[in-house]
Amino acid sequence: MKGLILSGGKGTRLRPLTHTAAKQLVPVANKPILFYVIENLARAGVTEVGIIISPETGDSVKEAVGDGSRWQVSVTYILQVEPGGLAHAVKTARPFLEDSPFVMYLGDNLISSGISEFLQAFQSGGLDALILLKEVADPRQFGIAQLNGQGRLVKLVEKPPQPPSNLALVGVYFFTPAIHPAIDQLKPSWRGELEITDAIQWLLDCGKRVDWRRLEGWWLDTGKKDDLLTANTLVLDEWSRRDIQGEVDEASQVSGRVSIGPRTRVINSTIRGPAAIGADCLIKDSFIGPFTSVGDHSHVESSVLEHSVLLSQVTLLQVDRLEDSLIGRNARVARHNRHRSLQLLLGDDTVVEF
Ligand code: TTP
Repeated sequence: MKGLILSGGKGTRLRPLTHTAAKQLVPVANKPILFYVIENLARAGVTEVGIIISPETGDSVKEAVGDGSRWQVSVTYILQVEPGGLAHAVKTARPFLEDSPFVMYLGDNLISSGISEFLQAFQSGGLDALILLKEVADPRQFGIAQLNGQGRLVKLVEKPPQPPSNLALVGVYFFTPAIHPAIDQLKPSWRGELEITDAIQWLLDCGKRVDWRRLEGWWLDTGKKDDLLTANTLVLDEWSRRDIQGEVDEASQVSGRVSIGPRTRVINSTIRGPAAIGADCLIKDSFIGPFTSVGDHSHVESSVLEHSVLLSQVTLLQVDRLEDSLIGRNARVARHNRHRSLQLLLGDDTVVEF
């Protein structure tokens, strides 16, 4: 069984962060989403992993992941020159996949459970494909499954205006090589992509054995700001531990499940967990509330923040209250008492709401 992680794509919905970085490397609780994906594959015993990369962000993905030895997996990088769709990514990976069955995992998807149970169901059921489904609030934004009266899968539709159900396709799929001829006959969809849903539909139409399982825990497609904040909240809530490596002075209070990275100094501040503070940060005269992640090399001074994600090298000075915010790498937010007006230097696609 091989693993294929899709870490290419454009990431337009997560701009401006994705102008300079791969969306799969955006951290959740200070760890890139892609690392959770690799861990989940490794835990299920998948040790040969191909990672689809794009020309724009491929090098940063390679640099972050390396050869995979950290997770005891071997990684092969596969360049997809253009984001031609999920099925196009499989086509591009064909020399790596050979005739092996494989699990395809979208590199920006985060699920609360492991995948071993599904992998077993796929292998023992003699299936050609196994997909995972999860109820969603707005099915018009997802690939949606239609089931018949017996609960068998009959149809898949991409972002339907009139959804036949609220069961969306989760970004983890199990395939035998039967998917390749299905992909070979695809034509680009209205959005110009080779759609994996069309390939699975072809398998269904040809009478191949395609089954589904319901995902019980949470599933997040972290491609948007609010989803990313939700992911941060859920991961901190469920998986964080207390682990204090940096220095906390006597005037500070750190309560609950808080992790503080090496060489970080906390001075005269309060941190309430669950929260994750990276390495080499300075937190001074501040309050950091629950569900907050602060990336490495950040500086927070005389500020109050909660339910927010700061990536690395962020500076926050005299910010009275920051909530529900996502701040990109190397950004600086500072209040100067002498100015009554806002003074901004904002990159493309930036959002400021107050
Ligand atoms: P999407 O989120 O569907 O596409 P995208 O990354 O282009 O994002 P946006 O809509 O914001 O522009 O992709 C799901 C995952 O699959 C994501 O991790 C990127 C990856 N992907 C590829 O590797 N190759 C592709 O051709 C596409 C379309 C996506």
